[in-house]
Amino acid sequence: HMKGSIFDLDGVIVDTAKYHFLAWRELAKELGFEFTEEHNERLKGVSRMESLRILLEIGGVQATEAEQQCMAQEKNDRYVKYISQLDESELLPGVRTYLTGLRMRGIGIALGSASKNAEFILERLQIASLFDAVIDGNKVSKAKPDPEVFLKGCEALRLDPSHCVVFEDAAAGVQAGKAAGCGVVGIGRPEILSEADLVVSGLIDLVK
Ligand code: G6P
Ligand code: MG
Repeated sequence: HMKGSIFDLDGVIVDTAKYHFLAWRELAKELGFEFTEEHNERLKGVSRMESLRILLEIGGVQATEAEQQCMAQEKNDRYVKYISQLDESELLPGVRTYLTGLRMRGIGIALGSASKNAEFILERLQIASLFDAVIDGNKVSKAKPDPEVFLKGCEALRLDPSHCVVFEDAAAGVQAGKAAGCGVVGIGRPEILSEADLVVSGLIDLVK
């Protein structure tokens, strides 16, 4: 049975994908090409530098390592401007109720995200205090589907992975959770998340 829970951030707790999209689109525009929402799908769950690499490939733009560092910085500055406006109202439905319920049952709660802005986002959403541990892009070196982020989450909760459940909206995240040896609840469409043990459309489905 579940003693600990590990949550992905984007697409599970908050929809930050739309802000990543706006920031990437602005950067693409500066570089002289169009970046669409369809393109943006390829960046979900992908690290900042890898996202930039994909974006430059889409635009057919060549850039040196130094230029890429500069571009990633600029994208992040734009992104941070958007997420500075975040507040509680942008929590996805059911999130606070579900997390609070877990705490009342004594179940450990960790975050497992690729984002280096995760702590800031939790603060903005006013849910930071609900988490026992935050494993984010500053603490991991291997991206999902590698299990590193979730193994570190279990370790931080001092629990065996077999007693932890991962909540994920991305296929690579579901794979990472399974590879870590955790139970996995997929958030979204069953066609994409078929490897999950259970698929729901959002945390709201688990509080009813
Ligand atoms: C999450 C998002 C990605 C984002 C990545 C890094 O995985 O789904 O779209 O690129 O985090 O986010 P960061 O805030 O560090 O740029
Ligand atoms: Mg996600």
